[in-house]
Amino acid sequence: MAQGKILVVDDQESIRKLVSMHLRKRGYDVLGAHDGREGLKKALKHHPDIIISDLMMPGMDGIEFCKRIKADKDMREVFFIMLTAKGKIEDKVEGFGSGADDYMVKPFNHHELLARVESAMRICSLQGELRELNNLKDEFLGMVAHDLRNPLTVIKGWCDLFAEDLLGDLTSEQVEAIDGISQQSILMLDLVNDLLDVTKIESGKVELSLSQYKIQDLVAGQLRAQTLVASKKHITLVDRVPDNLPPVWLDPDRMAQALNNLLSNAFKFSPEHATVTISAARNGNFVEVSVSDTGVGIPPEDLDRLFQKFVQVGSRPTRGEKGTGLGLAIVKKIVELHGGRVWATSKVGEGSTFTFSLPVEKRSSAEPEPSAKETSLEVTIPSEN
Ligand SMILES: Nc1ncnc2c1ncn2[C@@H]1O[C@H](COP(=O)(O)OP(=O)(O)OP(=O)(O)O)[C@@H](O)[C@H]1O
Ligand SMILES: [Mg+2]
Repeated sequence: MAQGKILVVDDQESIRKLVSMHLRKRGYDVLGAHDGREGLKKALKHHPDIIISDLMMPGMDGIEFCKRIKADKDMREVFFIMLTAKGKIEDKVEGFGSGADDYMVKPFNHHELLARVESAMRICSLQGELRELNNLKDEFLGMVAHDLRNPLTVIKGWCDLFAEDLLGDLTSEQVEAIDGISQQSILMLDLVNDLLDVTKIESGKVELSLSQYKIQDLVAGQLRAQTLVASKKHITLVDRVPDNLPPVWLDPDRMAQALNNLLSNAFKFSPEHATVTISAARNGNFVEVSVSDTGVGIPPEDLDRLFQKFVQVGSRPTRGEKGTGLGLAIVKKIVELHGGRVWATSKVGEGSTFTFSLPVEKRSSAEPEPSAKETSLEVTIPSEN
C-alpha cells in the first residue's frame, strides 16, 4: 500500500527517474513533471503530500513554482523540498525565502533523501492530526455556543417579565439586580452568537446567498439602523458613497453583519461628538468600502493582529463598552468568503479607517488589488443630538 504521494519535478528526465525509482521502492506513490508549470497542474489535480523540485528549470523555475504553491490556500501545506545543484548559502536562503520547507544539494545521497522524505511525511501526518483536532474543537465550540443560547434566552425572558412588572412589584434593589442579570445575559448572548458565527464560517458551514446588490443600498440601510445608537454618543454619521458604483455580488445579510461590526467598533472607540464616515470607490475589479472614525486610533504595531480571534489591542472603548474581540475576525471571514479582503489604517489620537474590498464579478477567491483611489460624493445624515 502506498504510504504517501510525492510529486517529483525536474527538467532532467534521468534525475526524475532516479528519484522516482528510490521513492517507489519505499512504497511511495510517485508522479513526475518536467517544469513548474506542469508541476502546478499536477499538484492541483493530484494533491501530493510532498513535492521534490529542482530549482533551475526552463519555463517556470523552482522558486516561482514554490511561491505559487505556498500562495495557494489549498496547496500551501504541501511539504516542499528543493533538490538542486545550486548549493551556495545565498541559493539556500532564496529557496527557503520562497517558502521551501527543506533544501538538498545535488548530487544527492539517496539514503539521505529517503530519510528527509520520511521526516517530511511525519510532519504531514502531524499536520493532518492538527487539522482534525482543530475541526473537532470548532465542532465542540459550535455545540457549546448553540446549547448555551437557549437557556440564556430564557434567563433574559424572565428578566424582561420582572422588568415589565408582570410578576409583581419589586423593590428598587431588586429592579437593579434584575437589570444587572439582564445586561449580563445580553452580553453572553452576543458572545455565544459571535462564537457560533465564527465556528460556522470556519467549518465551511456558511453558504452565501449571493445576489447583485447596490453598495449604496447596503450602506444606507445600515446607517438608518445605526442612527439611534450613534446618537447616544452624539456621533455624526456621514454617507459618502457615490451613486455611480456598479452593483456587486454579495450576501446582503452577511455583508450587513460585517458593516454593522465595523460601525459598532467606530462608535465604541470614538469619543462623544466624533464623526463616522462611510465612503466607497471602484478600484479595478473591486469596490472598496471604508468606515472611518475620528476616534482613539490604533498603534501601528497592533494593526496586523486586529483581525485574529479574541484579539483586543491597546485601543480602549471610550465609555467602557464591552466586547470579546470576535467582531473583526467575523468581518474578515465574511469578506474573504466573498472573495475580497479587509485592512485597517490608523493614527493614534486621530482615528482609524477600516476598508474592505468586494469583487464586482461573482467568484470566490481574492485577486491582487491595485492601490486605493477615492472618488466620493458627500451626503450627510444628520445626527440625532
Ligand atoms: N475603530 C476602531 N478604533 C480603534 N480601535 C479599534 C477599532 N476597531 C477595532 N479596534 C481594536 O481592535 C480590537 C478588536 O476589534 P473587534 O471588533 O474584533 O473586538 P471588540 O470590538 O473588542 O469585541 P466584539 O466586536 O467581539 O464585541 C478592539 O478591541 C480594539 O482594540
Ligand atoms: Mg467589535
